[in-house]
Amino acid sequence: MKGVILAGGTGSRLRPITHTGPKQLVPIANKPVLEYAVDDLVEAEIDEIGIILGNKGRDEIQEYFGDGSDWGVEITYIVQGEPLGLAHAVGCAKDFVGDDSFVVYLGDDLMREGITELVEDFDSEKYAAGIGLQEVDEPSRYGIVDVNDGGDVIQLVEKPDDPPNNLALIGIYVFTPAIFDQIESLEKSWRGEYEITEAIQGLLDDGKRIQSHMVYGWWKDTGKPEDILHTNRLVLDGIKTSIKGTVENEESVTGRIELGDGSVIEQGAVVRGPVSIGEDTTIRSDTYLGPYTSIGDKCVIDGGHIESSVVVGESEISAERTIVDSLIGRKATITANHKKKPDGERLIIGQNSSLEL
Ligand code: DAU
Repeated sequence: MKGVILAGGTGSRLRPITHTGPKQLVPIANKPVLEYAVDDLVEAEIDEIGIILGNKGRDEIQEYFGDGSDWGVEITYIVQGEPLGLAHAVGCAKDFVGDDSFVVYLGDDLMREGITELVEDFDSEKYAAGIGLQEVDEPSRYGIVDVNDGGDVIQLVEKPDDPPNNLALIGIYVFTPAIFDQIESLEKSWRGEYEITEAIQGLLDDGKRIQSHMVYGWWKDTGKPEDILHTNRLVLDGIKTSIKGTVENEESVTGRIELGDGSVIEQGAVVRGPVSIGEDTTIRSDTYLGPYTSIGDKCVIDGGHIESSVVVGESEISAERTIVDSLIGRKATITANHKKKPDGERLIIGQNSSLEL
């Protein structure tokens, strides 16, 4: 079975973070979102992966994953271009997947349990497709599904105003090639996209059966900044201590910490895990890093207090302030202004930024 990861789209809900790269490469605990999908496919013993690319961030994604050999898989890149919808993106993989069943993984989704059970459970003799489901709090943000007592899908609807229940499509699908005929006959939805949810409904309307699989471990769609922060906390909850860099005073470091090659936690800095620090980053003395914080590669954190936040990388933060629940994009600089008059915050804020002061 082959795997297809959808990594197109524009990442508009994550601007300005996505001005400097595709949303699928935003790091969660110092690993790009998309790499979690690749790892889950590898774990499910899928060794041929097609990554669907949009117009944005194509080169960066190809540069990061290369031919896939570092992950022990073969990666093929397929260009979708404009994000015309999930069904259109899946349709672009038709030649790549050929005549077999295949898995589709939405590239900005993360899940704790991985996908092995769902993939192994899929019965291509009986079903034309299989979908992963989970109960959600805001059903109108998702594709919502009705199932019968035997777990067969009865109906699907994309982002309903008036959801019939709270069972959401989690963005993992197993398809037989029957899906391609449905995709070819689709029309655009009310939101102007070719919806995979409608293509699956088309299979049902043609009398085919759709298998459902409940997923109970946590699952997150990382489409919005608050989702990135929440997912970062969930992933950090499961990390193990791994120190490759230098901790100058071990007594000031507690809890589970990942510290990458070339990074230093200087004497006088306090770090309370779970915390993930990338490579070539310096945490200077007088800095406090609190739980659920990820600091990317090549950063200098010089004083202040950072907690429950993600600093993407290549940033310098030297404000003696408390930063919490924050997502700080690549190459950001945050400095103190105590020598400047008049007193007050001095801000250079990009389009679509969001600050709470
Ligand atoms: O996260 C689960 C939800 O994902 C499901 O409940 C919905 O049924 C499903 O439609 C989808 O909804 P989203 O609105 O969250 O999809 P989004 O536009 O965020 O796209 C998901 C991924 O697919 C993302 O990594 C970008 C990629 N994509 C998206 C579009 C529209 C493409 O590769 N090409 C596209 O044309």
